[in-house]
Amino acid sequence: MKLSTLLFGGIATLVGAQTATAYTDAKSGITFQAYQHTTGYFLGVALPEDPTGNTDFIVTIGGKGSGWSGASLAGPMKNALLVLAWPNNNSIVSSFRKTNQYGSPPVATGTFTQLPIANGTYTNTTHWTYTFVCSKCIQSDGTTFVANDNTTVLGYALSSTAPSQKGNAASSVSKHTSQGQATFDLVKARSRDFATWKTWAAAPKVANAL
Ligand code: HEM
Repeated sequence: MKLSTLLFGGIATLVGAQTATAYTDAKSGITFQAYQHTTGYFLGVALPEDPTGNTDFIVTIGGKGSGWSGASLAGPMKNALLVLAWPNNNSIVSSFRKTNQYGSPPVATGTFTQLPIANGTYTNTTHWTYTFVCSKCIQSDGTTFVANDNTTVLGYALSSTAPSQKGNAASSVSKHTSQGQATFDLVKARSRDFATWKTWAAAPKVANAL
């Protein structure tokens, strides 16, 4: 293979790769590894310093406008634990979803819960932001990344169209206008401050209008 072909292939790979980078939320001060999309969508995760036996992490998810933002905690849309959230006036509506087929995913129930962090959950003139402790979210059935992963691929999906029933966390949604996957460095996502951040979370919610 010619050197030029090798170089071109390498550059193409770099350009194609979507990668999370460090991001600190201005209000909560929590530092995440976060993927940001040109539409204003973002998805960040923060993990405890010691991954051994850990099941919990902090998620921040948000976007611009009145559409929805979603995440796959395993990477693909199907057979993965999904997080789905959207703004409703000045509050956020969120739920866990799961599906084995392409289509509006139904609400998922399980031991996992969302514990909202108030100082990381807000709307401003340009963005909405929802931050929560995803409690018992690391599953061992392949529907999420696992505690000892040093890197993982998470899925992102967003739509500029608001769900049909904005006040109902179980609302169906129309298909994403953008979707894909991004690589997250979970070692960099670990922080000794996680334990403090976790204490900011309120009571657990599964499918909720915050
Ligand atoms: C009516 C609703 C939905 C439909 C019809 C749908 C359909 C699809 C289809 C067909 C794909 C494959 C790529 C493509 O052909 O576009 C896909 C990918 C994806 N979807 Fe959805 N989807 C829906 C809702 C959602 C929701 C609510 C989430 C997250 C909360 C989500 C997350 C993803 C992700 C992360 C991918 C990329 C990874 C993959 O291909 O599996 N989807 N979806």
